[in-house]
Amino acid sequence: MTTFLKKKRKRSLNSSESSYDIDPASLPCHVAIIMDGNGRWAKKRILNRIEGHKKGAEVVRAIVRTCRETGISILTLYAFSTENWQRPKTEIFALMTLLKNFLESELKEMLDNNIRLNAIGQIEKLPENVQQVLHKTMALTKKNNGLMLNLALSYGGRAEIVRMVREIAIKTKEGDIDPDFITSELVSDFLYTKGIPDPDLLIRTSGEMRISNFLLWQIAYTEIFVTKTLWPDFSKQEFLEILKHYQHRERRFGKV
Ligand code: FPP
Repeated sequence: MTTFLKKKRKRSLNSSESSYDIDPASLPCHVAIIMDGNGRWAKKRILNRIEGHKKGAEVVRAIVRTCRETGISILTLYAFSTENWQRPKTEIFALMTLLKNFLESELKEMLDNNIRLNAIGQIEKLPENVQQVLHKTMALTKKNNGLMLNLALSYGGRAEIVRMVREIAIKTKEGDIDPDFITSELVSDFLYTKGIPDPDLLIRTSGEMRISNFLLWQIAYTEIFVTKTLWPDFSKQEFLEILKHYQHRERRFGKV
């Protein structure tokens, strides 16, 4: 893992710099982000943690837009983990409300800009009203083929793997799968991310050097960047810097 904190290019990029000095040929196809540090951001300002999540949702909007503008195909955001259910009820309620508001307020932006919404995780565990807006947004944006915004909701990598093992075991028992034909590709097809290429780049904010149960199978060869910036302070500029760093990484996939 590489930790870096680059603050050197603070100025805003304008539309005439739409290429963002980034080589489109070596752009990551799939970027995944662990958005961490909302609580610490709020604490530093003697604010309620929920204020950190609210500011975090604004950053989500900005990063989605930047992904679309740079031509990234898939953005997966760790928005709510299986472990997050253990947070205080008021915080869970605030996060679910923010998510619902985000989906409602961004629908037009998604439709106007060819963005497809997808969700991975135990969607059935989300509150009914959130599930409704989620399913509606996914249905309305289903045919879009620009950026895929993939939200990990009530998601846990281990739970996903357990679910996959269970499903493959049932199909094997029923004679639909021959154990000799269980391959990496078959396993991938039984995950929530079926049909979605593995992330090329994983970004974690707030400096913690952990994976926190995110996309455990899918990140086998993913390039990882950790920044000390707290998610509510994360910016388009820093995101673009990380993309540039990524372009200088040599990806060998275990080969020489
Ligand atoms: C981690 O920060 C962040 C979360 C658990 C939730 C992420 C949610 C958002 C960014 C806002 C809503 C999302 C969308 C998609 C609209 P933390 O609370 O663990 O921070 P801490 O480690 O500093 O306490």
